[in-house]
Amino acid sequence: MFAALKPQAPDKILALMGEFRADTRQGKIDLGVGVYKDPTGVTPVMRAVKAAEQRIWQTETTKAYTALAGEPAYLAAMGRMVLGDAQDGARTASLSTVGGTGAIRQALELARMGNPDVTVHVSDPTWPNHLSIMQFMGVPFVQYRYFDAATRGVDFDGMKADLGRAKRGDLVLLHGCCHNPTGANLTADQWAEVADVLDRTGAVPLIDLAYQGFGDGLEEDAAGTRLIVSRAPEAMVAASCSKNFGIYRERTGMLMVQVADPAARDVAQGTLAYLNRQTYSFPPDHGARIVQTILDDEGLAADWRAELEEVRLGMLALRGQLAGELRALTGSDRFDFIARHRGMFSRLGASPEQVQRIKEDAAIYIVGDSRLNIAGLNRDSVPVLARAIVDAGV
Ligand SMILES: Cc1ncc(COP(=O)(O)O)c(C=O)c1O
Repeated sequence: MFAALKPQAPDKILALMGEFRADTRQGKIDLGVGVYKDPTGVTPVMRAVKAAEQRIWQTETTKAYTALAGEPAYLAAMGRMVLGDAQDGARTASLSTVGGTGAIRQALELARMGNPDVTVHVSDPTWPNHLSIMQFMGVPFVQYRYFDAATRGVDFDGMKADLGRAKRGDLVLLHGCCHNPTGANLTADQWAEVADVLDRTGAVPLIDLAYQGFGDGLEEDAAGTRLIVSRAPEAMVAASCSKNFGIYRERTGMLMVQVADPAARDVAQGTLAYLNRQTYSFPPDHGARIVQTILDDEGLAADWRAELEEVRLGMLALRGQLAGELRALTGSDRFDFIARHRGMFSRLGASPEQVQRIKEDAAIYIVGDSRLNIAGLNRDSVPVLARAIVDAGV
């Protein structure tokens, strides 16, 4: 049986991490892997998370199973955080999942159960795992234009034209904020136009919201998602708590499914629980309990929001500094897009050869498609990166 297995292509980002570890040069800089790092290079446990864990440890009296769809209080708290007033409770089914990835997987499973002929429309480029999960599942997908290589912004005309070709019953996968890997995002007006296109085509949106709070603020980052959900009869949202709560390894996420008719809600809810049952049965609880403990406690929630805001503003300051350094070095504003991008990532628009040169000459590790993790920088390494970008001829 196992002799027939074929080697899987290594994950490019994990391979880059291995190369980074093996590099013995002093002052090497890792801008590859997609986790937040503070200025000292540490991925910290947030203060409110520690406090919530302590509280859970003191008060938890059982480790018995929760519910197949997950803890209702967690789902309710997350529903409020993600959708706010845009949530129509009578039409929404929710599922606790194994991270945001688990939510995306279950969303695709549900879409395929609802429409075996579903085609998924996904941005070009997108988070590579979107494509690899769909390839593995055998779900057909087409890519819509998204990134404008010239401006490093969104090619919105291209996006709209391509999305206009979606059919009723197709799925349109959108990044709610902080697009990964490009950092280029839709404006409020463009979100409204996307809602119009969805309206015209009858395609169903699936919004991947993995970085709420990392871009323009907790509420601001959810605005596009809320607009789409309030306009579309049917919609799905896959939310991750990995980044904004810094609980990557706890595997905490949620899928929300909005149905058109309240009469269909219970069947959708039952189907979601069924999907968990078939995949891993009960979802993990610890991360969900941390999130719910924080969100339902005014003091903890305020402290968490304050720390998240420090993280967000720190990344914005690094963006501003890098764009400024590059403006000074090149005497042009052609890297100003770095300050306009939002979230942890920016796509530089460098060629693979230039990315390679930056690694060889300056020991700075950037993903081959020229995605760099802004959070891997600090005030001292920004000028080093700016110099390396210019020296590589980007
Ligand atoms: C765009 C995007 N979606 C979803 C995820 C899923 O995150 P997780 O499964 O760790 O919650 C990530 C994580 O890197 C991401 O970048």
